Amino acid sequence: MKALVAYLSYSGNTLEVAEIIIEKLKEHNFSVDVHRIGYDPPVQPETYDLIFIGTFTWAEGATPDEVKDFVLEIGYKPDHIAVFGTGETQFGGDDLFCKAAIKLAKFYESRWEPLTIEQSPRGSQELKVKNWIERVVNDGISHVRQSENLRTIES
Ligand SMILES: Cc1cc2nc3c(=O)[nH]c(=O)nc-3n(C[C@H](O)[C@H](O)[C@H](O)COP(=O)(O)O)c2cc1C
Repeated sequence: MKALVAYLSYSGNTLEVAEIIIEKLKEHNFSVDVHRIGYDPPVQPETYDLIFIGTFTWAEGATPDEVKDFVLEIGYKPDHIAVFGTGETQFGGDDLFCKAAIKLAKFYESRWEPLTIEQSPRGSQELKVKNWIERVVNDGISHVRQSENLRTIES
């Protein structure tokens, strides 16, 4: 199983969430590619069983331009994208909290609720990240198995 973890982080919070996700994926024997949005060369989304996209939220709930460019770069809507994000409620309360991640998950019609973290995931929110990744990985594995069974039946 192969996963891509693509993220954008200016001050490190979203990177910290990505690090926990990468660690957990490796524990589940995933081969993991890491993509720093805005820095690394284009990815080949169709080569992954699971794709994680992480973003912080910018002023008044905005999605950072680098993430918008990455979405254009992907160019289609893979059905196995899971979205995670960090934000701060002090910038507009619950209405704007992690709005970029929420919008992105809606855009991709993600089968998983986006993971939303207030600032750094370290400490009490670490468990929230770990529970979310367990759900995504378990669903992701059963989805891949179903697709493989379908291919075997059809061939
Ligand atoms: C100018 C500015 C505007 C922000 N606006 C929002 C916002 O509307 N909603 C939100 O949830 N967080 C907002 N934030 C908080 C960041 O999303 C948060 O600090 C995030 O964890 C930063 O991620 P990073 O450390 O990965 O760069 C804002 C931060 C700054 C500096």
